[in-house]
Amino acid sequence: MMRRTVFAGVGHYLPERVITNKYLEKLMDTSDEWIQERTGIKERRWVEEGETVSGLAFKASQTALERAGMKPSDIDLIIFASMFSDYVFPGGGCFLQEKLEIPGIPALDIRNQCTGFVYGLAVADQFIRSGMYNTILLVGAEIQSTGLDVTTRGRDMAVLFGDGAGAAVLTGVETEDRGVITSKLHADGVYAKKLWGEWPSIIHHPRVTSEMLETDRIYPKMEGRYVFKHAVTRFPEVIQEVLDEAGISLDQVDLVIPHQANLRITEAVAQRLGIGMDKMWSNIDKYGNTTAATIPICLSEAFETGKLKEGSLLALASFGSGFTWAASLVKW
Ligand code: ACO
Repeated sequence: MMRRTVFAGVGHYLPERVITNKYLEKLMDTSDEWIQERTGIKERRWVEEGETVSGLAFKASQTALERAGMKPSDIDLIIFASMFSDYVFPGGGCFLQEKLEIPGIPALDIRNQCTGFVYGLAVADQFIRSGMYNTILLVGAEIQSTGLDVTTRGRDMAVLFGDGAGAAVLTGVETEDRGVITSKLHADGVYAKKLWGEWPSIIHHPRVTSEMLETDRIYPKMEGRYVFKHAVTRFPEVIQEVLDEAGISLDQVDLVIPHQANLRITEAVAQRLGIGMDKMWSNIDKYGNTTAATIPICLSEAFETGKLKEGSLLALASFGSGFTWAASLVKW
């Protein structure tokens, strides 16, 4: 028997405020038709004033713990994947820990953008296999909406992103046929500026000036087509890599859960892999791209709909800013 990392419970939470494409038409020169055709997104959720990343994470974590039949005090380690914390520092893991009322246990923040949850899963898996920690709360949570340029100038980015959180309670079990099988992680910083946020930046003295607020360099930037081309190559590549490592063929996989960047990317990946869209989980129409939160939100929804059954073989895969890309193979 081996010590394996098993998903004991998954949960998700989305802010209540629904932002439709029609609503965005009022803020910028865009159209429901353009957005749906290029991205597959119909609506997304954006937070209200006062909602926090750790607050969304807390709600998702409560559901995950409930489904795992556990209490916050059962957690040995928090791994918090997010591009942002509630404040500049400390990281969101500490704010979440305070809400969960479990002082003393370690809280580790992972800042790997869209691949944060898969990176976090690989890290958690190593801690659990080594025996250092047995029960880990892994969260992907994101608030993008408050940092977007919601005018025509920023429309290429603003229509894509949403806010949300997903959480998983991972625990060590002596088993040979369940849990995380293998993960592969990659990054290539040569492409860092193809999808990035530049200002406020610590290279400036001082970091923040009032002039900065007058420019568009405080908003995230992306070379969309460039990102698209890399994504549709890297997703299939890294999925094949975990399959090869595990000696498993793609037709044994029951469900691929890709990071939700864009429906056209997901479709292109399915085509390159030679599988039908029925094997690819997609919920981008409802939530847009929620960065590190997309995969755990998908997992939680797939669990709720009964798509995930004991023994289901899953491939989780992600690509995003960095560029970073990663995949994990999991037996549910
Ligand atoms: N509404 C209307 N028109 C728009 C919008 C918008 N929201 N955004 C851009 N346009 C315009 C452009 O200004 C351009 O106009 P022009 O021809 O007059 O210059 C035209 O639409 C075409 O723009 P492109 O950027 O060439 O459009 P493209 O077909 O490449 O689609 C998109 C853009 C959807 C962003 C695409 O490049 C893409 O999907 N890229 C992948 C990026 C991605 O998903 N990033 C998410 C983060 S990374 C990740 O999670 C993997």
